[in-house]
Amino acid sequence: MTAVDKKQLIEDRVNAGLRGQWYPVAKSVEVKTSVPHGVVLLGEKLVLWRDGAGKIRCIEDFCPHRGAPLSYGTVHEGDISCRYHGVVVDGDGVVVRVPAMPECALEGRKALTSYQTTEAYDAVFVYVPSIEHPEAPELVLPEEFTSDAWTGFLCTAVWETNYRYALDNLADPMHGCYLHSNSFTLAYGSKQDLLKLDKTEHGFRVSRIGQVGENFDWSEIQVHPANMFCFLDIPYPAAAGPGGVFRILGFIQPVDERTCRVFFWRMRQVSGLARESFRFLYRARMEATHWAVLEQDRVILEGMPDDARKREMLYQHDLGVSRIRQLLTRAAKSQVEAELAQAQAAE
Ligand code: FES
Ligand SMILES: [Fe+2]
Repeated sequence: MTAVDKKQLIEDRVNAGLRGQWYPVAKSVEVKTSVPHGVVLLGEKLVLWRDGAGKIRCIEDFCPHRGAPLSYGTVHEGDISCRYHGVVVDGDGVVVRVPAMPECALEGRKALTSYQTTEAYDAVFVYVPSIEHPEAPELVLPEEFTSDAWTGFLCTAVWETNYRYALDNLADPMHGCYLHSNSFTLAYGSKQDLLKLDKTEHGFRVSRIGQVGENFDWSEIQVHPANMFCFLDIPYPAAAGPGGVFRILGFIQPVDERTCRVFFWRMRQVSGLARESFRFLYRARMEATHWAVLEQDRVILEGMPDDARKREMLYQHDLGVSRIRQLLTRAAKSQVEAELAQAQAAE
């Protein structure tokens, strides 16, 4: 393998999405005990459902018989039954029954890869194993998820763009005062500034130097051994009702190289009676406004060519974007090297 080939493998890995990571793949309500739910993660088709105990199971979306998508089938006593000829597979990927054929030798065979799953704050997460970490390390969640002081809503959307653009967008506070300048909450502040990047305990923060607490002035990326997420605050005008700042927690699911699904939790620091009035106000009035802002991001990112980075000209404000790329590339390099070493040892 030449250095050029290896470089390409690393670039391909960054583009597809890192392995060894937990990713959100669905809203909790989308995964049911009655019908299977198909998703695509890092270009791989997976199927999810809930077993008899309500636990979420996830295996490859591929029937061991002849390859029909199991997600077209039905959930039967906690296992999944293929629509095509009825083969039943359990949550560990073992063939339980071949109803069409008496004493079929396939029964009892472990045929499919199964994936570890967990649920948090209305979302389902799946762990994609890597050679270095076949077992899932801990999924580190934002503390707002478990704190009584915060309440919020999960909002998700599919964007027809590589997940990297969605991540870059989160690490780029300067787009707020341009792209979202006509919105209710993001219309404030100056349109010119310099940015700085500071290391934080688990990652880094990109902040505007000349403007603090006025608008989307900073964003922070937390990087943990098996997941990363972003958060940013949007100061709220008094008209938005009681409560503290509005915080966005962002996770991205790389679907395939041209598609991602964003998972944004919109959280507010608010308790007591004010909490209920915020939840009501959000549903009644604010949610639509937030969707409109998110649409602005989606449209601009979907409009960018897949290989924009080949001819982009970065300037000082892109330090968050550069840092994310550096992190992804470093992790991809270590994954690719571990895979190459394993392949070599097997030869
Ligand atoms: S392809 Fe699934 S049972 Fe035949
Ligand atoms: Fe935005």
